[in-house]
Amino acid sequence: MKFAALIRKPLALAIFGLSANVFASLNLENGKDIDQTKCYSCHAKKSGFGNGDMIYTRGDSKVRSMANLKKMVGLCNTELRLDLFPEDEVDVAAYLNHQFYKFKP
Ligand code: HEC
Repeated sequence: MKFAALIRKPLALAIFGLSANVFASLNLENGKDIDQTKCYSCHAKKSGFGNGDMIYTRGDSKVRSMANLKKMVGLCNTELRLDLFPEDEVDVAAYLNHQFYKFKP
């Protein structure tokens, strides 16, 4: 796992070699950080699963599209006054889609 994580980025960079991909992976890292620091523990508690990732993969997910996902991220952000910048909302939505939802862009 550690090794895979180490090799993934250089490999992706070598294959694609485009700066756009560098930024894309940085954004996913940022999104992941935000999810883990601001979102995970509440979702773990509120979902009753004791795992903050499972709210995204639960069978009765409220999120059915990328537009839904952005709306839900925005809702959690504003309702709960998490004070994310708009760029951070975009990053966290991109990360959640990449990791869990896998909607086509
Ligand atoms: C204080 C608690 C709390 C925090 C913090 C929180 N959420 Fe939530 N979130 C919830 C609850 C509760 C639900 C379930 C809402 C429902 O079922 O209607 C939810 C649901 C969601 C969903 C929909 C999951 C699905 O597939 O049904 C997304 C996406 C989401 N949150 C994103 C975020 C993001 C991103 C953050 C951090 C920036 C965040 N939330 C922070 C309480 C929180």
